[in-house]
Amino acid sequence: MLIVSPARRATSVLALVTALVFAAAAPGAPAPEHPAEPFFPRGGNRGYEVSHYGVSLDYQPRSGLLDARDVIEARATTGLRRFSLDLYGLKVTAVSVDGEPAQYSRGRGKVKVVPATPILAGEPFSVALRYHGVPRKVIDPDGSTEGWYRTSDGAVAVGEPVGTAAWLACDNVPRDKAGFDIEITVPAGVKAVSNGRLVSRHTLKSGQVRWSWSEPHPMATYLALVDIGAGKLVQGHVGKLPTWTLVDPRLVKASRAAIDSLPEIIRWESRIYGPYPFSAAGSVVDVANLQYALETQSRPIYAFAPNRTTVVHETAHQWFGDSVSLERWPNIWLNEGFATWTQWYFAEQHGGRSAQQVFAELYRRPASQTGFWNPPPGHPGQAKNLFAVSTYVRGAMTLQALRDKIGTPDLLRILRTWATEHRYGNADIEEFIALANRVSGEPLRGFFHRWLFERGKP
Ligand code: ARG
Ligand code: ZN
Repeated sequence: MLIVSPARRATSVLALVTALVFAAAAPGAPAPEHPAEPFFPRGGNRGYEVSHYGVSLDYQPRSGLLDARDVIEARATTGLRRFSLDLYGLKVTAVSVDGEPAQYSRGRGKVKVVPATPILAGEPFSVALRYHGVPRKVIDPDGSTEGWYRTSDGAVAVGEPVGTAAWLACDNVPRDKAGFDIEITVPAGVKAVSNGRLVSRHTLKSGQVRWSWSEPHPMATYLALVDIGAGKLVQGHVGKLPTWTLVDPRLVKASRAAIDSLPEIIRWESRIYGPYPFSAAGSVVDVANLQYALETQSRPIYAFAPNRTTVVHETAHQWFGDSVSLERWPNIWLNEGFATWTQWYFAEQHGGRSAQQVFAELYRRPASQTGFWNPPPGHPGQAKNLFAVSTYVRGAMTLQALRDKIGTPDLLRILRTWATEHRYGNADIEEFIALANRVSGEPLRGFFHRWLFERGKP
């Protein structure tokens, strides 16, 4: 469906002519400047990089209807006559590029945009979209769900690995990180929470309340958070770091101990991994039919009352996953292995079993009880294995085996250097192996090959 108002035809013909003129510099199908996502070949878009999303959502919990405006600041990495964005479902009603109405069409999870004037390589540009509808859930290759969930008192949006495109038109790959300003307008009486700092809360003439959140640090789209629901939004701080926490009233009691330990966990992880990467923190606990928690940037969400070890895990992701992000999804070990090992090490340092004991117990399990060796964590093979037990368990065992080989100080030095050198960026497993070799001064390629890439018990 291509929607062009007659008044726009003139500009689009001009666009076509201009495009022909620029054809040599702006080939129709530019080569991808980084390899596509092997697990989600339809995710992500060529030819630009996003620097900022300015999102304005208006949500009606009663009908489930979302009305959205999305302003994307991007830079062309090649000449662009056309480009696309990821968006699942929803009805797009307007698209403009640099203030000029643009042609657009839909298809297979995309909004395809033809700007009135082609964009030159290297140029910054902005895209404004309006769309509305009832956003959907997304079923993952492993059968789990993400995307937009209606809850009894509002909604929850979680997006790992690809669900954010259920409500946000975006470049939906972890490689393309951007700052986010998300404002959410909801009826009075419910709260609306997102990533980063609460910039303002404003009651409109209509009686609705607009909540404006800002996450200035680069964020992968899958880490965007929307939570709408009842509860008390509690503001606090960890030293100078402001925190905002919203817990569903039904889960307040059961969550209290774990949620209250966030400051201690942030301090402890900052001590071992270096300064907390973001300028806000907090937690969201909501009743949603999700089986997991998610490390949404600066403010993880728990779809159940978490225990302390889960908070340790999601908080560790703020360094490993959120600040240092995956180059591509098959690198998932860099997130889950690291967050799981942090749980073990935290327990060890707080009077629990040592990580080595946990490792030894797992390592000696009889073959009949070891669902965690395959697929090897460095090579999950398919999207449905992203969150396989082996990603977490064998993934954490890999770091513990490394610790056993090179010693605790060198392992911690590697993890800290990793968090520092790639802060706010993206990195892959090869770079981690190179860093481990460099920091430890030991040749570790054989070790990593065995632990990360070979099937079966290493
Ligand atoms: N990253 C989350 C964690 O900390 C898991 C997310 C799982 N997502 C999914 N769609 N199954 O463990
Ligand atoms: Zn995790």
